[in-house]
Amino acid sequence: MRVCIGVGGGIAAYKSAELVRRLQDRGYEVQVVMTRAACQFITPLTMASLSGRKVITGLFNNGSDGPAGEANIDSAIEHIAVAQTIDLLLIAPATADLLAKMARGHADDFLTTLHLATQAPLVIAPAMNVNMWTHPATQENLAILKGRGARIVDPAEGYLACGMTGAGRLASTDAIVAAVVETLDAAALPKNLQGHTVLVTAGPTQEDVDPVRYITNRSSGRMGYAIASEARRRGAHVVLVSGPTALAAPDGVELVAVRSAEEMRDAVLSHLDRANIVVMAAAVADYRPARRAEQKIKKNAAPLTIELESTPDILREIAARRGERFVVGFAAETENLVANAKRKLEAKNLDMIVANDVSGTDTGFDSEFNAAVILSRDGEPVELRRMTKQEMAGRILDEAAARIRTPVPAR
Ligand SMILES: Cc1cc2nc3c(=O)[nH]c(=O)nc-3n(C[C@H](O)[C@H](O)[C@H](O)COP(=O)(O)O)c2cc1C
Repeated sequence: MRVCIGVGGGIAAYKSAELVRRLQDRGYEVQVVMTRAACQFITPLTMASLSGRKVITGLFNNGSDGPAGEANIDSAIEHIAVAQTIDLLLIAPATADLLAKMARGHADDFLTTLHLATQAPLVIAPAMNVNMWTHPATQENLAILKGRGARIVDPAEGYLACGMTGAGRLASTDAIVAAVVETLDAAALPKNLQGHTVLVTAGPTQEDVDPVRYITNRSSGRMGYAIASEARRRGAHVVLVSGPTALAAPDGVELVAVRSAEEMRDAVLSHLDRANIVVMAAAVADYRPARRAEQKIKKNAAPLTIELESTPDILREIAARRGERFVVGFAAETENLVANAKRKLEAKNLDMIVANDVSGTDTGFDSEFNAAVILSRDGEPVELRRMTKQEMAGRILDEAAARIRTPVPAR
């Protein structure tokens, strides 16, 4: 794998030297490209010594970009050669100036020309003064780049070289390397959901008892979020309807935040038309208080009885309106796993159901791991032994992708 690291002209440029080493430790071949300004902060000699390769600093005559550069046919075609042979372009540190140029498609030096010429995935790690970072111009440029699929490794908060404190420090080397590894892994995945729109539900719901209390469950949302991120990695457009969780929405996923079962129902039905695959991984409350007290219920020595009523059955409503959509349900059971899941598959008119045993303590609710059986209308049960929820999400989606008969919808 060949990673190109583009170094921008900021104080954090010296940290790119460590990044080169760490990427090489991972077995990647590293090509360094530096902007003219970057050469003011760290020498190309240092980067060439570390990377073991010639460092590219200019479009013309491979000198620094600038008026003195003389056209040279070797360097003139170099950016095309690099553009076509790299597996990933990492910009670290990315200056505010580079973000603006990339967002607008400028190509007035080697790095920005390479950015336009390559089709390799792009990872951007910005670093700058906090006011530059929070400036609407910078944030708009970031949104444009994100919208095009770039992976942004957000800067960390802390003391900045300019003497101010706030967001703007280059993210840790670990975080940047992890983003590179994840992006390369994702690029190697089959894009078997390209063109599809996947609607995923995740997390628990909260059903109000009074203005300060609610009934909920132990769902962390991890399974649904893993489905959303794996679907995205496989090329799908993803709408994630999520109850309250402590998780950050995966990159590139459209998040619709809800609280109650009723809100989740409304959100799912309003986005259903856009989706041709629906994965219902939320732990929707089955019951809610029949009445929500207007005021906080006072503490009292007498026992308190709260009457509960059923919440809307979202899966049943989807079953009625599903059309040609491929619908996947989840069944969390503590007994008779397969028999109960089979019944739900039939009763709710699903294409696939993922039955997981939540009676254990090391898988299921609130855990990083899960174990499950996938039942579908056409095939033998597929047993998924204990694995991470991320891995399991990938397996579930690959099983679903193999069964989708309807053509990719036009968007
Ligand atoms: C001492 C000094 C430190 C700088 N640090 C940063 C920085 O951390 N982030 C940034 O976006 N710009 C920083 N700049 C401004 C950039 O160097 C300037 O915008 C330059 O044009 C960027 O060029 P490039 O984007 O081609 O690398 C700094 C400038 C100076 C003089």
